[in-house]
Amino acid sequence: MVKVKVYRKDPSVDEQAYFKEYDVPVKKEEKWTVMDVLDYISRNLDGSLSYYRHSACCQGICARCVVKVNGKPALACARTVVEDELILEPSREDKLVKDLVIQV
Ligand code: FES
Repeated sequence: MVKVKVYRKDPSVDEQAYFKEYDVPVKKEEKWTVMDVLDYISRNLDGSLSYYRHSACCQGICARCVVKVNGKPALACARTVVEDELILEPSREDKLVKDLVIQV
């Protein structure tokens, strides 16, 4: 089980950002990516989470899926999860649209 803390903020509603925590049953031998973790959360735990998925290439080409993973920018579709805890944040807060989605 991986503990995942995800940055949440809807600027139209929230004055302050906060982190929401999810327990995700990642099997390390399956080599999940951060995108797999976000898909799991969205489909099974919290459908209100916003992250870049629409027309994502998921091949490390378009770079639209960039998020901060434990403080460092990374492609969500390419970064394989190995840590026991993940902290996911938008790559730029000054361009925030909602949660992990930024204006590009
Ligand atoms: S979705 Fe295109 S690089 Fe990750």
